[in-house]
Amino acid sequence: MDDVFTLPDDFLWGASTSAHQTEGGNTGSDWWAFERAGLTDFIKEPSGSACDSFRRWPEDMDLLAGLGFTDYRFSIEWARIEPSPGEFSTEAVAHYRRMVEGARKRGLRPMVTLHHFTAPLWFTERGGWAAKDSADLFGRYVEAAAPVIGEGVDHVCTINEPNMVAVMAAVLRALPDGGVTLPAAGLPLPDEAATEGLVRAHRRAVDTVKSHAPQVRTGWSVANQPCRPEPGCEKQAAAYQHPRETVFLKAARGDDWLGVQAYTRTRIGVSGPLPVPEDVERTLTGWEYDPQALGDALRHTAATVPGTPLIVTENGIATADDDRRIAYTTGALAGLAHAMADGVDVRGYFHWSALDNYEWGSYRPTFGLIAVDRKTFVRTPKPSGAWLGAIGRGRVLPAVSP
Ligand code: BGC
Repeated sequence: MDDVFTLPDDFLWGASTSAHQTEGGNTGSDWWAFERAGLTDFIKEPSGSACDSFRRWPEDMDLLAGLGFTDYRFSIEWARIEPSPGEFSTEAVAHYRRMVEGARKRGLRPMVTLHHFTAPLWFTERGGWAAKDSADLFGRYVEAAAPVIGEGVDHVCTINEPNMVAVMAAVLRALPDGGVTLPAAGLPLPDEAATEGLVRAHRRAVDTVKSHAPQVRTGWSVANQPCRPEPGCEKQAAAYQHPRETVFLKAARGDDWLGVQAYTRTRIGVSGPLPVPEDVERTLTGWEYDPQALGDALRHTAATVPGTPLIVTENGIATADDDRRIAYTTGALAGLAHAMADGVDVRGYFHWSALDNYEWGSYRPTFGLIAVDRKTFVRTPKPSGAWLGAIGRGRVLPAVSP
C-alpha cells in the first residue's frame, strides 16, 4: 500500500448517535423503565435529559457539518412513534422527517436507524423479540415510520446490534430467576427465540422500506466480536463467535450493505474468552485499548459474507484523553485503509460517537467527538472532531501501520 490511502469520492464519512442516548426524556421506552427499576448492576444512573438532542438536533447537525462530516447516522424512536400498541404519533413522525430534511439542508446525508436498543415498554412487556408476532409488530411500526425515509435518505439500518439485543433478551428473561451470572470474560449467550425474531424482523423491515422507498439501501449493523485466539485456539474463537456474531452476519446475505461495529477484540484461550490482562491499557468502558479490532472485524466480516458491501457504522473509544482518541482512531483507520487496499469492499466510516452521551447506564464513558456539558448542554467540539472532520474533507487516510 502507498503511504496514504485515498478514499473514493462517494465514501460515507460521518458520526453516529442513537435516540435514547442523546434525545432525553424517552419516557415510553423499555430502557427508561429499566433505569428506574435498577434491573442490573451496570445501570448506575438514568438517562434523564441525555444531550437534550430532541430539541438541540439542529445544533448537533450544524457542528458535524461544520467539522467536515458529510454523513450523519441517527436513530428514530419506536416508543415515540408508537406510544401505545397500534397508536401512532404523526407529530413524532413529522419530527424525524424534519431531522432528515435538516440534515440534507446542511449537506449531511442521513443514515436512519429504525431500532437502536430501545423498544416501547409495551412491546418488551408482551415478550419483546422472542414473541411470535414481534416481526409483525416491528413491520407495522416501520410502515408508520415510512414518511421519515421516503425521500432524502440513502441508507437505512433496520436494527442496531441485533446480537447485543438478543444478549439483553437473555439477561431479561433470566431476571425472575435471579438473573444470569455474567461471565468473567466475553458475552453471555444470546436468547435463541429473540435471535430468530430479530432476523425475521430485519427481513420484514427491509421489505417494508423497499416497498415505500426502493432507492433506499438497507442493512443492519452487527456488534462484531473480533477475537484474538492464542495459538491453537482458533476453533474456540469460531465457537464463541458463532451464536454471538456469525449467525447475525450471515442473516445479512443479500442485503445492500452490512454494518461493522468494532471497538476491541476478545482474547480467546483453550476454554474460551479470557479476561483483559492486568498490564494492558483499558478504556473507560474497561475494554482493552485495541485499534486493530476494526481491521480484523472488516476482514472477518468480508470473509464470512463475501460479496456484501460493508459500512463501518460504529468505531470509537471511551476516553477522557482526546489525544488517545486520535491515536486510537488513527490506528483503526490504518486497519480500514489496509483492508480496503487488500480488496475489502468498504463504503463508509461512521465514528461512535458524535456526542458524549448516555452510555447505557452511565455518562462516565465519554465516546464523543463533541463534549456536552451535563448541566447546560453546551456543546464543545474536541480536537478529535476537527481532526476527523478534516480527513473527511481531504478524503485521505493517515499513513501508519495498522
Ligand atoms: C452501541 C452504542 C454504544 C457503543 C459503545 C455499541 O454497542 O451501538 O449504542 O454506545 O457501542 O458501547
